[in-house]
Amino acid sequence: ELGQYRHYMQKEIFEQPQALASTLELIAGGGSISPQLFGSQAADVFGGVRRVLVLACGTSYHAGLVARYWLESVAKVPCTVEIASEYRYRDSVPDPDTLVVVISQSGETADTLAALKHAKSLGMTRTLAICNVPESAIVREAALRFITRAGPEIGVASTKAFTTQLAALALLTLALAKLAGRLPEAEEGRYLIALRHLPVAVQKVLELEPQIEAWAQRFAAKHHALFLGRGRHWPIAMEGALKLKEISYIHAEAYAAGELKHGPLALVDRDMPVIAIAPADELLEKLKSNLQEVRARGGELYVFADAGSEIAESEGVHILPMPEHYGMLSPVLHVVSLQLLSYHAALVKGTDVDKPRNLAKSVTVE
Ligand code: F6R
Repeated sequence: ELGQYRHYMQKEIFEQPQALASTLELIAGGGSISPQLFGSQAADVFGGVRRVLVLACGTSYHAGLVARYWLESVAKVPCTVEIASEYRYRDSVPDPDTLVVVISQSGETADTLAALKHAKSLGMTRTLAICNVPESAIVREAALRFITRAGPEIGVASTKAFTTQLAALALLTLALAKLAGRLPEAEEGRYLIALRHLPVAVQKVLELEPQIEAWAQRFAAKHHALFLGRGRHWPIAMEGALKLKEISYIHAEAYAAGELKHGPLALVDRDMPVIAIAPADELLEKLKSNLQEVRARGGELYVFADAGSEIAESEGVHILPMPEHYGMLSPVLHVVSLQLLSYHAALVKGTDVDKPRNLAKSVTVE
């Protein structure tokens, strides 16, 4: 069943172009953006929505964090993202005009299901489940559903489920933007082209595997790693750190690069590899000065740099040239390289990649 692959995780990383193409099938060819992508009731449920609240755990929570940047910048809808296990037990102020979005690969995560029920009990009835399993408990509990078509995910570390969740959230962002009259036709056309081209763009990143593997060899012996990102790539840094710790058992932390000098810079020395996501976007110059701060303290930098970002390889600064910057959807490309990095670091360390110690694929207990 594994075919040419050594592990399910590797197979699932490489299935991402196909998983994305299937998930985005409804907008392939002549399809356009509409609430209908989220079911026949969606126009009613979305109408009058003033805020979005995303509830999820783990990797699915990271997908929500990326979506917050999209929803606020493109659809101009205020968005909060919360860990399901926190939301369900705290006092919060309910708002019936909020769209509650739960994200779950399995659809069975106990805390996410309970958080959804809690939101409903507070009178929030506009609910949407983004899920990879059609008849799961979470899907049955939500008013609307969007089923990602990643196919079964067997590796405990979530990979293709995450990128297909991002695809679903990009569609949600555009659907809400359109409903609010904030998506001019020409812009919609540009987003549709980018989405339709996404599987090919991801394929290009997968082709970087040999270079990423060489990097993994270099730092698999380290005990700690720091991941840096800014803006919509900060949650991708978090996801990279989570992947690395769960399958290679290397302690990793993610920081918004601007937070470096507020504490974590004290950790940086020659033994602390720093992995930076460097998209060629409006925050690049800011990021570059953060990287200089790391270099000045002797930290070894591993930079995933978009074409055109003009960061030069030098002593202690390793550059992995990524394809051209991919705009709003760039996080989808950058996470793929981090998935490969953690996979290969785990291989070097000889851990059980598909079944990391102490973890279960579906967390049905709280
Ligand atoms: C990490 C991972 C977990 C899950 C989390 C939520 O690789 O897979 O963090 O994302 O347990 O699971 P779902 O998405 O099934 O609700």
